[in-house]
Amino acid sequence: MVLNERELMEYGMRLGSELAPGVVIALTGELGAGKTTLAKGIAKGLGVTDEITSPTFTMINEYTSGRLPLSHFDVYRLGEGEAALVGMEELGYEEYFFGDGVTIVEWADLVEQLLPEDAIRISLSYGPDVETREVVVS
Ligand SMILES: Nc1ncnc2c1ncn2[C@@H]1O[C@H](COP(=O)(O)OP(=O)(O)O)[C@@H](O)[C@H]1O
Ligand SMILES: [Mg+2]
Repeated sequence: MVLNERELMEYGMRLGSELAPGVVIALTGELGAGKTTLAKGIAKGLGVTDEITSPTFTMINEYTSGRLPLSHFDVYRLGEGEAALVGMEELGYEEYFFGDGVTIVEWADLVEQLLPEDAIRISLSYGPDVETREVVVS
């Protein structure tokens, strides 16, 4: 689907309101594709009241004010290949991926091998004009 920013946020809110415990949402798409925007919508849908900021430098942000605990990863700075996998181990990713909260992962393609099989995969890319993004859910 092709969505503008408001529609992407609303899509995230709907998704967030329906999520069950233990779900991992794997987001892919280049810089500016809308991963963090979508994460904000999902957080809102979960009832998170905190301001959502990009975990670019912190790698993980955690929020407990919603209906379910939310952990929001941005793994870009872990690097690629083996470095990303080692970095994830160091972050203790298993507790998040296989715990009872909801986990959102930006740049999920970098840690593809670690994702649970049943992760919700959403790829974002630039749309037909500057205000839209193409969103593919699988
Ligand atoms: N349809 C859209 N959906 C999401 N963001 C959009 C859209 N159109 C324009 N934008 C802009 O693109 C940027 C997306 O940034 P962000 O969500 O942080 O992306 P990412 O986390 O993938 O790098 C924001 O500046 C936002 O205002
Ligand atoms: Mg981002």
